This record gives sequence, structure tokens and C-alpha cells, in this order.
Amino acid sequence: MPATRDHKPHATGRVPAGDVSQRVGVEQMTARGLNIEELREKLIDAAGAEFTTYYYYTILRMHLAGKEDYKEICEDARLEDRSHFELITPRIYELGAGLPRDIREFADRAGCPDAYLPANPTAVDILTVLLEAERCAIRTWNEICDLTLGKDPRTYNLASRILQEEIEHEAWFIELLSMERDGVARPSGHFRRGTPGDAPHSKNLPFYVP
Ligand SMILES: [Fe+2]
Ligand SMILES: [Fe+2]
Repeated sequence: MPATRDHKPHATGRVPAGDVSQRVGVEQMTARGLNIEELREKLIDAAGAEFTTYYYYTILRMHLAGKEDYKEICEDARLEDRSHFELITPRIYELGAGLPRDIREFADRAGCPDAYLPANPTAVDILTVLLEAERCAIRTWNEICDLTLGKDPRTYNLASRILQEEIEHEAWFIELLSMERDGVARPSGHFRRGTPGDAPHSKNLPFYVP
């Protein structure tokens, strides 16, 4: 039935007019069967992993000293993790949750292991840490995509943009580790980002004007 002057089907809903204690943007997702509490917790864990990985990649990049090509790729992945943190954090607040008050709690609940500098930080060992960190990120964002597909288009959009970059990062580190460790070419198809921190999929500047 089409809307008419007297019938606007979306003008009212379950949330009473003027009620600021509830969000239609959340209620609509619940109505579609999404477990909001579960999503909030997984997003905080995922944001923690992006934040801590950004920190640890700083150290890993430093110890790729003398390998300018590896440093540049590591730097792109590092800055894009920062972009992922920036992109997903506002969504956590929109959903009525927030970051832990204490950064120690935030780091402890990160959804991926600490990407520690290896005891003997050879390029092979560092690239292995980087590769496995990307793989954890891919699993994480795929899970968020699965949870939100068809139920929460906004979180799905953000998570799928992050996921695209994580998949690229895995391909970069497979290429570098395969050649460095095994002498085998497994091309990623990648040449280079425009500038460090380019984040072609996850940068929020064109989308986010506070
Ligand atoms: Fe990331
Ligand atoms: Fe990544």
C-alpha cells in the first residue's frame, strides 16, 4: 500500500516518539535477528586488535632495518590498522557501547595475539609474525561480516571495507615471506599504495565529517 498524506508507515515504530534511551538504528537490527550484545563485544575485541597491532607493527617495522621495501609494506599495513581502529570505533558508540576506560583492559581483550617482536628478529621471523597477524584480522572481520549480513548494513559496510585491506595485507606478506624464506615467487598483484597510510578502502575522510 503506497504512502498517502495521512498514512506514513515509517513515521512511528516500536520506539516511542521523543525517547532518547533507545535507538531505532539498533531496534531495527534486533528486529532482524541480530544479537546486539554479541556484536558490540566482538567489535570492541576487534578494535582492540587493530589498536594493539598498530602498536606492535611500529616495533616490527623498526626492526626491518635495512630492508626498505619491507619497511614500506609494513608501514602501509601499520597505518591501515590505525585507520581500521578509527573507522570502527565510532560504530561501537553508535551501538550504545564504548571503549574500556583502561587501555590495559582494552589490550588484554584484543581479539588477536600480541604481534611481539621475535627473540631473534630476522626478516623471516618478522614477516611470519606479520602474516599471522593479518590472518587473525581476516578471520575477525569475516566473522563480523557474517554476523551483520542482511541485518546491519552499516557495520557490514565498515567491516567489509576493512576486510578488503586485510586480505591485501595477507597477500603482501605471503609474497615477501615466500621469496625471503623459500625463494619462491607467489605474487600478491600489488605494487604500492599512493602514500603511506593511504587506506583506499577504510579511510573515513570522505565518509566522516564530524
Ligand atoms: Fe587491520
Ligand atoms: Fe592488516
